[in-house]
Amino acid sequence: MSTNTESWGSRVGLVLAMAGNAVGLGNFLRFPVQAIQNGGGSFIIPYLVCFLLMGLPLLFVEWSMGRFGGKYGHHSTPFILDTMSKQSFWKYIGVFGLFTNLAVAAYYCYLESWTIGYIWHSIAGTFQSMDQAGVADFFNNYTTISTTTTGIPFEAIIFWLLCLVLNTYILSQGLSGGIEKVAKIGMPLLILFGVVLAIKAITLKSGSQGAILDGTEGLNYLWTPDFKSIWTPSVWLAAAGQIFFTLSVGMGTIQCYSSYLRAKDDIALNAMSAGWMNEFVEVVLGGAVVIPITVGYFGIDGMKELVNQAGGLGLGFRTLPYLFQQWGDVLSVIAGVFWFGLLFFAGITSSLAMGTPIVGFLQDEFSWSRKSASWTFGAAVFLLGLPTVIFFQQGVFDEYDYWVGTVSLVIFALFEIILFAWIFGMEKGWREITLGADIKVPIVFKFIIKYITPLLILFVFIGSLPGIWAQITGDYPWQVHFSRALLLGVWIAIALLVAYAYRKRQKEGRFTS
Ligand code: ALA
Repeated sequence: MSTNTESWGSRVGLVLAMAGNAVGLGNFLRFPVQAIQNGGGSFIIPYLVCFLLMGLPLLFVEWSMGRFGGKYGHHSTPFILDTMSKQSFWKYIGVFGLFTNLAVAAYYCYLESWTIGYIWHSIAGTFQSMDQAGVADFFNNYTTISTTTTGIPFEAIIFWLLCLVLNTYILSQGLSGGIEKVAKIGMPLLILFGVVLAIKAITLKSGSQGAILDGTEGLNYLWTPDFKSIWTPSVWLAAAGQIFFTLSVGMGTIQCYSSYLRAKDDIALNAMSAGWMNEFVEVVLGGAVVIPITVGYFGIDGMKELVNQAGGLGLGFRTLPYLFQQWGDVLSVIAGVFWFGLLFFAGITSSLAMGTPIVGFLQDEFSWSRKSASWTFGAAVFLLGLPTVIFFQQGVFDEYDYWVGTVSLVIFALFEIILFAWIFGMEKGWREITLGADIKVPIVFKFIIKYITPLLILFVFIGSLPGIWAQITGDYPWQVHFSRALLLGVWIAIALLVAYAYRKRQKEGRFTS
């Protein structure tokens, strides 16, 4: 029998945990960069359209699939998908919902661990004596796993292990005892830190504290729509990719979290609340910190150059700690702790969500205790994350991000929406979405989910093919090729585990639906 009989402690806890799952490092590091690289104001229109036509519909679909599968005692996508169709191959599509979480967690937790290291260094005043190049070099040394970076041997590895242990311990405490508690503390703090930093960023005045432009210049850049480039396909692809990553749709986490709901619990209002909370944090807070501060000190062209050199990690870790120093000794410490603190809370509420489907699967299929399942997840993240840590400079981290944080999400979302709208059937699907709903879901979503969302995802997938081909045929070091083989091997290993679990169920007479 499954050892998995948990449920959410409260509705507030559930919505905060779901919002925490979505609100992540992507909101503060990925969104500003996507916006900058895709024309600032012109990015926002495709972004919002993708949110309404792809993001929100997928939220409804994934929440419903999860609650539906949860009725049959399933807490991960292989068997949730299996209950929705008679064809047996769907459980192998569901493998993506385990694979993506494990593999994203593998590089995501490393990134999350930097935030702990940088909180430490902000408090210790490490950046106070450094110029811009010094702060950038600090980051390069940190991620090269130097033995001598800042006096602590193998510092990045120590913080990474600390981060993994923290994640694993919280996971082992369960939904209400661990995840909900962290979300209830982390989300309000994250918003508080974000609001304080955003106010400081927007009120930055040219000529004061070394700034050359007002902070509002950055906001103007982000919010002035340029209708010319909204016809550029690459801008749409980038907008769609950001919506997938930021909402954590196409991952399998939302289905897992909602599988712990009761059969008639609302999903419509909950999905809307978590989704809109993510958008508030991303567009309002994510857009109001990094961009205004960087534009304030480097101007729009200077900011674009910085992004082209080193992307979002460049702005967040190589530039902001230097700019905070312009605000004086005390404010720079507060700003550093708030910035890396908010990144830490954003990260951990997402990485905990990535662990839950794996834990759920091991509990459901092999009757493991939550503790054993959680520590197994921690060990797997350690092993799979090791290449991203050791070969960070060789591009393995980016390679993981590309295949599992970008391509995999689109593939899984495409399959799941076809399953939901066309195989499970839109009539049944709509009944699931509206069952127990505390709001009236606009009927237009029925049409959108059936026709518009699948077509849009298909376009995104087809539009991504040239990029995928370029990635496959590009010239990369052996470490990158090795990481690809490793990821493929992990997918196959999970598929074999699912096949074994299915046979085990049949033998034990435990049917999947
Ligand atoms: N949705 C998470 C993020 O934005 C994964 O970082």
